[in-house]
Amino acid sequence: SRANHYDFFIKETKVTRLCHEKTILTVNGQFPGPTIYARRGDAVVVNVYNQGNKNITLHWHGVDQPRNPWSDGPEFITQCPIQPGASFTYRILFSEEEGTLWWHAHSDFDRATVHGAIVIHPKRGSAYPYPKPHKEMPIILGEWWNGDVQQLLEESKHTGGDGNVSDANTINGQPGDQLPCSKNGTFRMLVEHGKTYLLRIINAGLSNDMFFAVAGHRLTVVGIDGHYLKPFTVESIMISSGQTMDVLLEADRPANGSGNSGYYMAARPLVTNKVIRFDNTTATAILEYTDAPPSAGSPDFPANLPAVDDVAAATAYTSQLRSLATREHPVDVPAHVDERMVVAVAINVLPCGPNKTCEGPGGNRFSASLNNVSFVAPSSVDVLDAYYYSIRGAYEPDFPNKPSFVFNFTEGLPLEQSFTTKGASVKVVEYGTVVEVVFQNTAILRLGSESHPMHLHGYSFYVVGTGSGNFDKDEDPATYNLVNPPYQNTVSVPKDGWVAIRFRAANPGVWFMHCHFDRHTVWGMDTVFIVKDGKTPKTQMMPRPPTMPKC
Ligand code: C2O
Ligand code: CU
Repeated sequence: SRANHYDFFIKETKVTRLCHEKTILTVNGQFPGPTIYARRGDAVVVNVYNQGNKNITLHWHGVDQPRNPWSDGPEFITQCPIQPGASFTYRILFSEEEGTLWWHAHSDFDRATVHGAIVIHPKRGSAYPYPKPHKEMPIILGEWWNGDVQQLLEESKHTGGDGNVSDANTINGQPGDQLPCSKNGTFRMLVEHGKTYLLRIINAGLSNDMFFAVAGHRLTVVGIDGHYLKPFTVESIMISSGQTMDVLLEADRPANGSGNSGYYMAARPLVTNKVIRFDNTTATAILEYTDAPPSAGSPDFPANLPAVDDVAAATAYTSQLRSLATREHPVDVPAHVDERMVVAVAINVLPCGPNKTCEGPGGNRFSASLNNVSFVAPSSVDVLDAYYYSIRGAYEPDFPNKPSFVFNFTEGLPLEQSFTTKGASVKVVEYGTVVEVVFQNTAILRLGSESHPMHLHGYSFYVVGTGSGNFDKDEDPATYNLVNPPYQNTVSVPKDGWVAIRFRAANPGVWFMHCHFDRHTVWGMDTVFIVKDGKTPKTQMMPRPPTMPKC
């Protein structure tokens, strides 16, 4: 394998969107940040120099990092943050992922502006399992805030409320020409008639799952989260926050068929609970045929982009995902389970704090939990170091395998029964254990439920089953797909329902698991898997780099 080096300078950069100029945190002055290119099997080294004004860490979303949690990145989980003026080198090994992944900051809300694509080509000498596209293009869905995201985070911690929503959704950093002052910047993808293009779509957004469509063109989905899928063709896709999808687009339209040379690509949120405020903008970009004569008309808008509340469209889309499952790209679904964990995913409340009233329900503070534990990371040491050096008190290995409370997945409980408890509660499993996690959505508060994109570090997992209502351990496992389930790192727990994932704990280390909506991450919808292999942590994983940042 080859080693590729990248230098990432974290710095403040002036950017203008929606008629507002402001300073944002970037990598190398770019928003979105630079793309990392690799082949499967490559090792990539990224030197990060923090020239910004706040602590930061970076994460390589969807990369297993075999036995190397040191380079995984979530702050206070696997490392202390890189302080202003300091630097840190991440080592990333692409052992089994192929397709599209992405990297992003994993500290505070920094990922709002600090993120970029990771493109992983097949090994030298091997090929895509589909006809080679003429060109490839990362399509990064994100958000733009006119305000400062760090300030937003501080404010919402102070008020206990759910914080402000973004001012625009974006495609490759641009809201598109439907929004003020955005015409010139609108992202344009140039295509030639008769050629096929690979769109590497990434949902980098902090707050929403997204629908995406291209006017006049169907999309053939061939990959998710760095793993191949059985191709299927749709008019629109739904991509959860944190997910990546590889999509083929055939530029087969008459270049000026509708009196213009362009077709809009558009992205808008999927909102599964409209009680919660959301950014109701639609981001656009333009697919432009270079072999068309210029024209004065405006591009077509995708007629079949689902409406924000079209939960049925999202469910119908997701139900089509199947692993490719060929001899070159086999599946290996564990047939039996050593440990099944039912994990209730909930939004709850915590008391506001001394002599204060908060903006959350009943004057309380919004909170979130897994099995009624609202996760709080340590702050003077990270969980990985605490494990490695047997430092007591930083975490407790007591994460419950079952919900410890009664819940109703649709109606919710009264406020008095919606309080949670804080803790740095982690789950310890032995090497090789086959773990099944059933994420059960709940409506703890009388707000109803909403979907949550759950993400696991250090692993991909098979999404073996999903359903509505409460999971039934006697009936539901019979409906599982153990033949060709999709292999993902992020899965949406459906509103009013459940989803089951399976993985073999074959990657020793310390691995964060959390909702990929950043608000919910900071509210505590998180836990950590510690995967042990033998007695001493030192023999289980790669040696601790002496350059790890200090807290
Ligand atoms: Cu994409 Cu823990 O994150
Ligand atoms: Cu969530």
